[in-house]
Amino acid sequence: MKISIIGSGFVGTALGKGLIELGNEVIFYDIIDKDMPNFTFTKDINHAIESTNISFICVPTPTTPEGIDLSYIKEVAKNIVGLDPRIGKYGSVHGKAFGGECLPKDLKAFVSFADKYRNVRLLKAVDEINEEIREKYGVRE
Ligand SMILES: NC(=O)c1ccc[n+]([C@@H]2O[C@H](COP(=O)([O-])OP(=O)(O)OC[C@H]3O[C@@H](n4cnc5c(N)ncnc54)[C@H](O)[C@@H]3O)[C@@H](O)[C@H]2O)c1
Repeated sequence: MKISIIGSGFVGTALGKGLIELGNEVIFYDIIDKDMPNFTFTKDINHAIESTNISFICVPTPTTPEGIDLSYIKEVAKNIVGLDPRIGKYGSVHGKAFGGECLPKDLKAFVSFADKYRNVRLLKAVDEINEEIREKYGVRE
């Protein structure tokens, strides 16, 4: 698997090295230069994201008196959505809902069937969110 690590600090480096040991191809990215002679490091976020299948975000999440500061994560997520052609149009919450003939109908039918045996909360949430997105952004053709 090709994996990018966004934020090559303490956690990102440890995670990336572990993933390499497991046989993955890892590319490290950071906004500041990192001296990582035996590893693939880039300061080009386009390259890091587009050349890999999965990105792990390992940036700071400092605690403030108001709570956790998620601005670093938001900044990276914004970049990823903007840069990766695989995300955005269809993949992000700003994409359109899934439609088609069968999937929405089958999902509802499956939820209704499975609900008799167990609470399929995840599938219900998928259906609910899809309906919300359908109203806001329409259906993917
Ligand atoms: N260090 C720990 O023991 C530990 C344990 C559990 C969880 N965590 C969590 O893991 C996350 C990362 O922590 P850490 O200790 O690795 O932090 P760190 O400060 O060592 O590394 C963060 C890295 O992110 C980089 N960075 C900042 N903004 C960036 C951006 N926009 N794009 C790319 N890189 C960016 C910084 O330059 C830095 O190299 C935090 O959420 C932290 O709370 C840390």
